[in-house]
Amino acid sequence: MPINLFEVAESCLYTPSVEAKLEVTERARQIFREAGFSLDDRQPPKPASDARFPEQPKLVDPRHLPRRKLTTVGGKIAFLHAVAHIEFTAIQLAWDMVYRFRGMPPAFYDDWLEVAIEEALHFSLVRERLKHFGADYGQFPAHRGLWDLAEETAHDVKARLALVPRVMEARGLDVTPAMIAKLDALGDEATSDILRIILRDEVGHVARGTRWFRYACDAQGIDPMTEYFNLVKRHLRGAVRGPFNREARLAAGFSESELERLEAMAIETPAASAE
Ligand SMILES: [Fe+2]
Ligand SMILES: [Fe+2]
Repeated sequence: MPINLFEVAESCLYTPSVEAKLEVTERARQIFREAGFSLDDRQPPKPASDARFPEQPKLVDPRHLPRRKLTTVGGKIAFLHAVAHIEFTAIQLAWDMVYRFRGMPPAFYDDWLEVAIEEALHFSLVRERLKHFGADYGQFPAHRGLWDLAEETAHDVKARLALVPRVMEARGLDVTPAMIAKLDALGDEATSDILRIILRDEVGHVARGTRWFRYACDAQGIDPMTEYFNLVKRHLRGAVRGPFNREARLAAGFSESELERLEAMAIETPAASAE
């Protein structure tokens, strides 16, 4: 009997163990390649607020996080830890997309399972780099905002797709090139190469967000552009931040008119969040 994808997703989301989440994702990658999954929808999903995170890192307000000055080893470690946490949370977010939103076409589940597999790769690459500097994931406090957004959008696939891939992951497309340039200038190609892999894959994640956001709007007879901006206004704490990586965003399915409207409402902040 084929293995049920929702049960696999549940086993990943509701364990606190980092290693167990990585193992489940790796096993899912093998099953996906070989036999495929059943999408038999037997049990309703458990609440997003019950999903488990490891005991370490401690999740705190971003103001209490260490500075990330790339020119010192301590700053580099803090930067890598922050990226590792984003990628770790991204594994949870991709599995939650698979798990929570039932009744979508089979290609939706294939897409987000592939995203979960890529996020696990990103996390492992960044974690290896942290270990190279004598550190590990969990050692410092981390930002709690990303999962709050998951809980807030757990009731509506359109809101999740608009806010997670098409706002949070899309912001990664904007800020990563400056980080790559900075790391190259400092001669740390081993780290910048990892960010290049992440940037390439993230265009695909945002593109999947665009594809399924439009699908979900079409299925309800809603105009995707109007809905996107309504959701952004409703859920985004603070403002939309620019400048935007137009080339990467266009490749990820943003339209010229969406970009123009985003540019008109954005606060310009430095592209690199790391110094
Ligand atoms: Fe990622
Ligand atoms: Fe991603």
